[in-house]
Amino acid sequence: MDSGLEGIIAAETVLSHTDGERGMVLVRGHTVQELIAQHGYEGSVALLWDGFAGEDLDRAAIRATFGEGRRLAFDRLERWLPAATGRTIEEGTRLCLAAVPDDSTPAEIASAMPVGVAALIRTQRGQSPLAPDPSLGTAADFLRMLHGKAVAAAMADALDTYFTAIMDNGLNASTFTARVVASTRASIASAVVGGYCAFTGPLHGGAPGPTLAMLDEAAQSGDVDAWLERKLAEGGRLMGFGHRVFRVRDPRADALRESLARLGPNVGRLAFAADFERRALAALSRHKPGRSLQTNVEINAALLLDALGLDRDAFMPVFAIGRCAGWIAHALEQQKTGRMIRPSSRYVGTGA
Ligand code: ACO
Repeated sequence: MDSGLEGIIAAETVLSHTDGERGMVLVRGHTVQELIAQHGYEGSVALLWDGFAGEDLDRAAIRATFGEGRRLAFDRLERWLPAATGRTIEEGTRLCLAAVPDDSTPAEIASAMPVGVAALIRTQRGQSPLAPDPSLGTAADFLRMLHGKAVAAAMADALDTYFTAIMDNGLNASTFTARVVASTRASIASAVVGGYCAFTGPLHGGAPGPTLAMLDEAAQSGDVDAWLERKLAEGGRLMGFGHRVFRVRDPRADALRESLARLGPNVGRLAFAADFERRALAALSRHKPGRSLQTNVEINAALLLDALGLDRDAFMPVFAIGRCAGWIAHALEQQKTGRMIRPSSRYVGTGA
């Protein structure tokens, strides 16, 4: 019995794999670096979904169907956006996904996210939602819908890189949840709601916001080493470190760092983050000897999302925009090839 199901294989997948020893994420046989350099977000979705959400999918086809999906999602905003008044962006995104009809196509489900999250952020800022431009890629259009005007190509590229890097990585907690829901033959839209709910916690997709708060707190303390010692002595967790599968540095961290460096004005913050990372790794190896706690993707993810003008409470929902493609692919694969997931528990209560 392992309550975290660590090391237990609960699915066979052709979709993606995290090699924790070699520090590698593979999606349909491609490394994350290849996906970023050669395929981009829509091209990677085409690879991931091919054979599940259609045959012979390519970047242009996904770009076109996602554009149409965003147009449809914008037309349907009034179905749920008023109910999000006074709610956080995280809660609003849950409403957005819950409003997606059961008979939606995978592209319609995935496209509801960028439109919904941009509309939620703008509404919270007292601005009206902006209609999508279906001719653009998802990242560029999301930032355009968010900021009210077209953004520099470097910003759109950075978000495209982010969406590509974090799209899928095997049976993480939210993906497993999506597969459990799909395994009962529930709709793909329901599987995505389930995946999203599992994603929101700070140990998983909710990590980038608290990671940035942690960096700020450590910087403000004036003595990073003392801050780290105090935090770990109190039994606290350092956000942005540790991973269930990776025992070496997460390769996605470096891919995001390169994107961040291209954005320019973050140089000071990047240097602080790199210095913090070195000190934190040393502190972790002192406090948790024998456990390889390495840098995960979250520090650079948080810096990247911040550099794109996003508020912290939107980090997780934006992360979910990228990850949604992975949930959909796994839900489709589960329905095609898997059995209903129903593990057993050991009863330790009374009366047996
Ligand atoms: N800081 C301090 N201690 C840690 C950290 C950390 N970041 N991560 C794990 N540990 C410690 C735990 O306290 C525990 O110590 P103990 O054995 O003395 O009790 C031990 O390492 C094992 O912890 P688990 O939670 O069982 O390890 P697991 O492999 O399940 O952890 C997780 C994975 C949840 C990501 C963890 O490393 C963590 O909480 N990290 C910080 C949050 C974070 O960055 N999350 C984003 C992950 S990436 C993603 O999901 C998108």
